[in-house]
Parts: sequence; structure tokens; C-alpha cells
Amino acid sequence: MAIRTLETLGDLAGRTVLIRCDFNVPLEDGRITDEGRIVASLPTLRALLEQGAKVVAMSHLGRPKGAPEERYSLAPVAARLGELLGQEVAFATDTVGEDAQRVRIALQDGQLALLENLRFDPRETSKDAGERAELAAELAAGADVFVSDGFGVVHREQASVFEVAQALPSAAGLLVAKELEVLSRLTESPERPYAVVLGGSKVSDKLGVIEHLLPRVDRLVIGGGMLFTFLKALGHDVASSLLEEDQVERVLGYMKQAEELGVQLLLPTDVVVAESFSADAAHETVAADAIGGSRFGAKGIGLDIGPDSAAAFAEAIRTSRTVFWNGPMGVFEMPAFAHGTKAVAQALTEVDGLAVVGGGDSAAAVRGLGFDDAAFGHISTGGGASLEFLEGARLPGLEVLGW
Ligand code: 3PG
Ligand code: MG
Repeated sequence: MAIRTLETLGDLAGRTVLIRCDFNVPLEDGRITDEGRIVASLPTLRALLEQGAKVVAMSHLGRPKGAPEERYSLAPVAARLGELLGQEVAFATDTVGEDAQRVRIALQDGQLALLENLRFDPRETSKDAGERAELAAELAAGADVFVSDGFGVVHREQASVFEVAQALPSAAGLLVAKELEVLSRLTESPERPYAVVLGGSKVSDKLGVIEHLLPRVDRLVIGGGMLFTFLKALGHDVASSLLEEDQVERVLGYMKQAEELGVQLLLPTDVVVAESFSADAAHETVAADAIGGSRFGAKGIGLDIGPDSAAAFAEAIRTSRTVFWNGPMGVFEMPAFAHGTKAVAQALTEVDGLAVVGGGDSAAAVRGLGFDDAAFGHISTGGGASLEFLEGARLPGLEVLGW
């Protein structure tokens, strides 16, 4: 079924629109280090404001535990959003409390307000549907319609994503519609060869994804923190590298399955091993089966794929017609360990076909390494959401919009 789009909500002039955005951006000392998700939200916000709607935006930031915490405040986002839109953004210092009421009542047509972090209220992420519905009703009070535009959270069954869409007439915003259009090209007959490149540090999260993707792809490229669990499964000593010992069996199963399916599984053949986890740590490149034999012995930590691996990965990517990439290859925040990620990003810009970067970390990595957004076919604002979409999972935040 097709998702309900903005037009289905009719004329929004003078109406109060509640919109869920994903403003979960990385912050360092209150400074936004990657504003990609804010920029991605602008087309929908502008479309609503230009129609003369009163717009109340809401989002989460980070994972606070159901109570206010200064470091997770959305105040810096409100300020940046105002600069990008060139108009004032009224900021409510609470989510459904007195200040939120005050801000809503003061809104004029064509004006925008942002509520404080939704996850300061424990009901947002409650396992109890009744509690979530209660918060959703409070959020919906006084609003005429709901627009869901936080693609990064559509895989979450949370009050501001799921229940609120049932409490009001609801539709997808322009960002969600665009993400679906592009990501659907990956799930519905992708041009082949189709390569998926996985990295990042959330090892067990990604292992689940592999299971679902193996039957769909031609090439699966593995880097980042999870590669050591694969090397371990091959019987190699990984010294002090990130390892999920309890996943080794599972990984072996994937290797066998890849072989049966004829999927090309690319693992690194060399690794950059460091003496410690720090930007200026001594380091050397060793063969992937010789990490334990580096000059750092059992202390050695693999922090990036090596140059041979980077070249092989780049070649596999460049010669594919459809590529999806999620997760950095190494600790790209430290220049000494950013080469693998940079090589993969560069190769994605050279794909003759569709190259998609998925996820907050990978998007931040490509921008942080100096690549231009326009060099890629698409940079998804969804991390977990885009992965789950590719897996073909049921996403509550999309289903509730008629998808
Ligand atoms: C993300 O960063 O992937 C989204 O904003 C969702 O955040 P969450 O994983 O904390 O639900
Ligand atoms: Mg996440």
C-alpha cells in the first residue's frame, strides 16, 4: 500500500500541525557536529510554514532515561533550526507541560515551535501501550493533524511515532517519502551486482542484519568493529580488538550460508593495529591472521582495515551497480585510523549506479572527511531504520501511515 502523503491532509493554512522530526544529532559540548538531520528536515518544515500552518515540532535527542538532563536538551537544535530557516523558533523548555502550552498558544500562522526532548518523559518509550497512548493524547491536544517526518525513528514503536499517528489525521512528510522512494529501489529489483557494506561498532546489532541481507545481495563487505568477530571465527587471534565471543558460532553460520548462496563475502586481509585506543597511539599494519603477532602483542587493538583491504573493498564497491553502506570501517574520528572509511566513501562516489549512505555515523563520517553530500546518490537520515527497512522488517512508524 502507498503511504499517505502531505496532500492527503488538505489545506493546512491556519491549522496547527504537529510534526515528528529526527533531530537526534551528534553534540560536542553543546555544539552540533553534524547537522545533516536538521538540514534534511527543512523542505517539509518550509512547505508547512509557507502554507501558513502553525507548526509544532518534536524530537528526541540521545537516550536520556525518562527525565530531563541538560546535556540532552534540544535547545541548541532550536537555535540552529532558526538560523537555517531564517525565522525564529520558539523553544518550549518542557514537552507537554506548562511551557509547551504557553508556546503553542502564542504561535501565529507561519510560525514554528520546538518542544523539549520527548525522551525526558518516560511514557515516550514505555513498553506499556496505554502509557504511550496517554502521552500521545497530550501531544495531540490542540493540534489538527500529525506529520511524521523523522525517518530515523520509524522503526520505533514510540508515542511520538506510532500512537500519535493514530490520535490525529496523519501523513508522511517529504523526507520520509523521499527516503522510501530511494530505499525501495534497493529492496525492489536492485541493479546488480548489489553490494552491502557494513561496519561500525554495534556488533550484535549488525549481525542480525547480515542474516536478512545474505539472500538478497551479491557482495557483502565487512569492516568496522564486527570484523574481528569474523576473524576470530576463522580461527585468528585478534589480541585486544573488539570481539563478541558469544557471536562467533553465529558468524561461522553466516560464512557457511554465504558460500551456499554464492554470495561474495569480503573480509579484510590486513588490519591497522594500535598500541591503545587513542589518536596518537603507535600503530602498524599486519595481515588479518597475524594481529596477535604485531609488535604490541596481546595489547594490540585493531582500529582500521589495512590498505590492501581498503583497495579490495573499493574495487568491489566501484564495480557494483547498487551499493548500500552503513557503518565506518575504523575509528574515523582519529585521522590515523580513518583511511579505510575514506577509501570506502571515495569508492561510493565512483559507483556507476545507485550508492546510498545509511545511518547517522556513516553520514557524519563522510561529511567529517570532507565529502560533499551531492557526491552520493542518497544519504539516508536513518541508521537502524534504514537497515531494518532493507531487511524487509515491519516498521511500525510506516505501517501506521498506511505503508
Ligand atoms: C538514530 O539515531 O538512529 C535515531 O535517531 C533513533 O535513535 P534511537 O536508536 O536512540 O532510537
Ligand atoms: Mg540508533
